[in-house]
Amino acid sequence: MPVTDMETIVRAAEVIVSARHMVALTGAGISQESDVPTFRGNDGLWRQYDPMELATPEAFKRDPGLVWEWYSWRQGLIANCRPNPAHTTLARWARDGLLKALITQNVDGLHERAGSEDVIEVHGNLWRVRCTECDYRAHLSAPASGVPECPECGALLRPDVVWFGEALDAAVLARVWQELHLADACIVIGTSAVVYPAAQFPATVKSQGGAVIEVNVEETPLTPIADVHVRGRAGEVLPAIDRAIAALRGQ
Ligand code: OAD
Repeated sequence: MPVTDMETIVRAAEVIVSARHMVALTGAGISQESDVPTFRGNDGLWRQYDPMELATPEAFKRDPGLVWEWYSWRQGLIANCRPNPAHTTLARWARDGLLKALITQNVDGLHERAGSEDVIEVHGNLWRVRCTECDYRAHLSAPASGVPECPECGALLRPDVVWFGEALDAAVLARVWQELHLADACIVIGTSAVVYPAAQFPATVKSQGGAVIEVNVEETPLTPIADVHVRGRAGEVLPAIDRAIAALRGQ
């Protein structure tokens, strides 16, 4: 798919350069070019698997072995994926001060691997586990095998991700609202914008007078409120915007 027209890229670059506090919201689409499956695309996970059987507390209670089998498979798949230019561009924008906060719905850890240091992961992280009974938490360096048990109390460990029907972590959400209320621009990359509360974050920035840039291969429910809709693949669009920023700054 060709990158959108140059005029749109330059408009996005202008918004970014003039923003005082830009935040980014990313979804599965940013990792699509790293070969991580999305959820709702043609090959999306939720087209092949039933989330109610795999990503709910009830499913875990019913069959922890099945749920862990699915998460271990995803861990194995992601272990072989690499960050793409969209991830690395965001990491550099943060280092350069252009991006003040990176909020992701992704659990794949690719933003960290691209060098982003402070990622607000609203849906958790596939590489973390936590105990279903006590406060134990740990980071996995390799895919889990079988159903792991807590080394402290012996109860079952679960992936430290947010499942359907669960609330987002209150401290994480508080941090998100803090950033959104400071924001005068929001760049939204590769999300279908149908899962709440994340889907509502860009509208919050918009409602306080901020600008919204959307980068996606298709239109979403967010497109009508976007000041700039950049149609294209994130791994191509973000470097193109980056080059336009450099041109605007005379670099
Ligand atoms: P989705 O799979 O719902 O949407 C992915 C979006 O990325 C779509 O809008 C695609 O058009 C777009 N897209 C695909 N490839 C792209 C590319 N190369 N460049 C740019 N855009 C591209 O994923 P999310 O919106 O992240 O939650 O889904 C939100 C949440 O739903 C997930 O975090 C997950 C899921 O259920 C939990 O597991 C709690």
